Amino acid sequence: MSAVAPKIRVTTTEVVDVTPMIKRFRFAAADGSPLPPFSGGAHVIVEMRDGETLRRNPYSLMSPPGQTSSYTISVRRDDAGRGGSLFMHRQVRPGTELTINQPVNLFPIDWRARKHLLIAGGIGITPFLAQIDQLAAEGAPFELHYAVRSREQGAYVDDLERRYGPRVHVHCDDRGERVPVDALLAEQPLGTQLYVCGPSGMMEWVLATARAAGWPEQSLHHERFLAPASGKPYTVSLAVSKRTIRVTEHQSMLDAIEAAGVQAPYMCRGGACGECETRVLSCDGTILHNDVFLTPQEKASGEKIMPCVSRFEGRSLVLQR
Ligand code: FES
Repeated sequence: MSAVAPKIRVTTTEVVDVTPMIKRFRFAAADGSPLPPFSGGAHVIVEMRDGETLRRNPYSLMSPPGQTSSYTISVRRDDAGRGGSLFMHRQVRPGTELTINQPVNLFPIDWRARKHLLIAGGIGITPFLAQIDQLAAEGAPFELHYAVRSREQGAYVDDLERRYGPRVHVHCDDRGERVPVDALLAEQPLGTQLYVCGPSGMMEWVLATARAAGWPEQSLHHERFLAPASGKPYTVSLAVSKRTIRVTEHQSMLDAIEAAGVQAPYMCRGGACGECETRVLSCDGTILHNDVFLTPQEKASGEKIMPCVSRFEGRSLVLQR
C-alpha cells in the first residue's frame, strides 16, 4: 500500500480509559459501510488534523480480525512525544471524525507453526490481542508472556487471564518478575514460532537470546515501529520534484515532504517496512539513520535513506524524489 491507496473516513464511536496512560478508541466507517477485513498483527495509520499540522501515527488493530463493523486501537500517552498520542488523548471524543489508511500487516502469524510463543511488553500487547483472538478461534497452540510495570498499569491483564487462562503469563516489574526467556526458549517444541513486541530494549534482549540459542531467523517475528526522532532543523532538496524543503525540529522528513505537497510512499511510518526508501543523490553531511530496515552496510554506504524516521545534519542533502 502507498500514500495514494484509498483512505477511510471513520467516526470515533467509543473512548475508554484503560489505564491512567492508555485509552482505547473504537472507530466505525463514517458512511456506515463495513471496514476492510484484516489479519492479526495488522496496523492502520491514523491521520490527525491538529491545527496546521497533519499528524500520522501507526497503531495496531486490536479488535477481533473478523469484525468489520468497527476497529479498535489502544494509544499510550507519550508526554515527550511529537504530539500524536497527546492529540488522541486530549482531542478525540466520541463523534470525532478521523481518516485512517487501509490496514497493513507487517507482523502476521506464521500458520505453519506447531506452536506460537508470544512475548509482549507494555503497550506492545496490542497486536497480540488480535492475533490471540485468531489463534484461539483456529485452535492453534499458543502461550503469551506479558511483561508489565504492575498489574494496575498493565492493559487488558484481567481480560486476557479470564479469556485464555493458563495460556497467559503476566510478569510484573514491581514484583521483581521477569519473562524467563532462556528457560522458555529451551522448553519449546521444534517448529515453535517466536513473536515479540514491546520496548526496543526488551525486543533486542529476547531476539538476541533466541539467536544465541540457535533459533533460526525465519522463526523470529517482531514488530518495532520507531517514533521519528526530533533534532536540529535542516533542509533537504528533492531532485525530481524540484523542491527544497525545510524540516523542523519536531517534524519527520516524510512529514515535511508531504506538507510541501509532494507525494511519498509509506506503510509503517516507523522505520520498519522499507516502503519509504529513497535514493540519496548527494550528501554533504551526515545522515542520521534511525530505521531498523536498512542493513549496517546500506547505512554506511549513504546511498539510501528512510525519510519516515531518519534525519540529516550538514550542508546539503539531495534525494531522488
Ligand atoms: S514508511 Fe516504513 S520504513 Fe518508512
